Amino acid sequence: MCGIIGYIGFRDAYPILVKGLHRLEYRGYDSAGIALSNLSGSLSIYKTKGRVSDLEEYCKDKDISGSIGIAHTRWATHGEPSNTNAHPHYSESENIALIHNGIIENYAVLKQQLIRNGYHFRSNTDTEVLVQLIEYIKVLNNTDLFHAVQLALNEIIGAYAIALIEKGGDNRIIVARKSSPLVIGIGDGEYFIASDASPIVEYTKRVIYLEDEELALVSRGFSPKIVTARNVEKTHEIIQLEMNLSQLEKGGYDHFMLKEIFEQPKTLRDCMKGRIDVTGKHIVLSGVMDNRERFLSARRIIILACGTSWHAGLVGKYFFESFCRIPVEVEYSSEFRYRNPVIYGDDIVIAISQSGETADTLAAIELARKSGSFIYGICNVVGSSISRKTDSGSYTHVGPEIGVASTKAFTAQLTVLSMMALYLGHEKRTIDDERYSFLLGELNRIPDKIEKILQSNAAICDLSKIFTYAHNFIYLGRGFNYPIALEGALKLKEISYIHAEGYPAAEMKHGPIALIDMEMPVVAIATDNVMYDKVMSNIQEIKARNGCVIAVVNESGATIREIADYVIEVPSTEDCFEPLLNIVPLQLLSYHIAVNKKRDVDMPRNLAKSVTVE
Ligand code: AGP
Ligand code: GLU
Repeated sequence: MCGIIGYIGFRDAYPILVKGLHRLEYRGYDSAGIALSNLSGSLSIYKTKGRVSDLEEYCKDKDISGSIGIAHTRWATHGEPSNTNAHPHYSESENIALIHNGIIENYAVLKQQLIRNGYHFRSNTDTEVLVQLIEYIKVLNNTDLFHAVQLALNEIIGAYAIALIEKGGDNRIIVARKSSPLVIGIGDGEYFIASDASPIVEYTKRVIYLEDEELALVSRGFSPKIVTARNVEKTHEIIQLEMNLSQLEKGGYDHFMLKEIFEQPKTLRDCMKGRIDVTGKHIVLSGVMDNRERFLSARRIIILACGTSWHAGLVGKYFFESFCRIPVEVEYSSEFRYRNPVIYGDDIVIAISQSGETADTLAAIELARKSGSFIYGICNVVGSSISRKTDSGSYTHVGPEIGVASTKAFTAQLTVLSMMALYLGHEKRTIDDERYSFLLGELNRIPDKIEKILQSNAAICDLSKIFTYAHNFIYLGRGFNYPIALEGALKLKEISYIHAEGYPAAEMKHGPIALIDMEMPVVAIATDNVMYDKVMSNIQEIKARNGCVIAVVNESGATIREIADYVIEVPSTEDCFEPLLNIVPLQLLSYHIAVNKKRDVDMPRNLAKSVTVE
């Protein structure tokens, strides 16, 4: 959601900024813009609704000189996507240009005050209020820009990552953050600022993550000066990025999503590497082991997440309850944060987030913290806000996930959750040695089995052609596969824009079965597990009403093959690990249907990769 990139150094800023905007496109946006401190001494802003390529087209005959600039991809919250509402925004005098990610909640009151003081507004955004306020405070207090920003931010309620430059203030970029991410890249005589490390990594691997309510003065030739909103100076450790450039390229695939689906055997091996020891007999998860007593004495586990990560949490509930006999509640972060929930000091809270920046999950963590419970994070993005706000945690280690629809992060979240639950179950003796080592062996074999499923890609592509023009889909699963039905439906919705619903299969007869007719494709997860016969009965009920059934089956599923209209075969595994396999053909099915419909698979409409506003 929204991308920020800035450059100050010795090179031309424009190409770096535009390339950076392209790298940030995956986050989701509707317009793009750039501000440059030109060699002529002017401060130029160029911005357009639409894609970064539209901005490039617009800039073709413009003055793009200068080695200081800031640029932005906007995901509109206040005011429709338009050329005027796009960022950067000028201040009244056009001497300051500002970009912003987040929401200024008290913008309406501030705007009225500024209008009364003679300020004029060009856009409908909340952001423009901030740049005007900064200029107003600067003039009123006859102070410099950095101090004015500091004073203005004390008046702001809301979330922000901002960057601004000033006409004639030629040697600096000012940045600040609260609840929205911001990274500073430290080059050799040059600095980069960005919403995440992806546009920085090709220039430098040394970064500083700004903390909440901090401002930084990034000047050419000097180390960044970091202070809090209350003017306390801070020093931050320089972090070495592990990301590499090839992870940010499509590597021969048509889309990042397809690449990421195909990467799953490798990413799951990476996720388990060093965590299931070479003998395959022990799990080494330092975050859990270091806090062993807390976990073992937990009264309850509360899992907080949104979207796909919430689906991973639902599977996690099955893991923890069946392996460790610890009660688990899985909550949407957005509901939890406003519900005045009952949390005990001996609860363990697990926050799951690919991006580590989801605003609702961050706020839910803050709320949980007040109860004194221990907070564990499962994140993919190293150094992200959630990973830094939790007491301990495990990274999923799948590398950057660029496709907006989460795939490889999801299977890695399941893998981390299963390792946590297996380790704790073994420590609690709720699973014995023999079962433990059998399950570890089976978990180790999952990447090979996913490789086998990926060989069916062409067959799934053929199958997808039959359903390209369906208007609705139903996904059914039971037990461990119920969350997979939800996730399969979400994948289809997100990228093909076909309406899809996931249900626990037995719930059908309590209402949704009314929807079944020959036009309604039903994807049924009917692999050979303890619920097989029950799912079979649910499928019979659908067939009796002329529904069209696409079943995910194992080799052994002879009866289901006779009843279903189409089948997708996956290797068998233990019931508990089926989600790791069964989601893969559903990812592929959604992908191919979306491609058939010529959808923008990696950047579906209206969606953002990091949802940094609530
Ligand atoms: C996944 O396909 C979605 N784009 C979305 O539901 C996502 O999982 C959700 O926004 C949570 O994101 P997070 O994991 O980065 O917190
Ligand atoms: N709230 C701002 C706007 O609507 C910023 C949105 C964003 O984060 O891109 O312009």
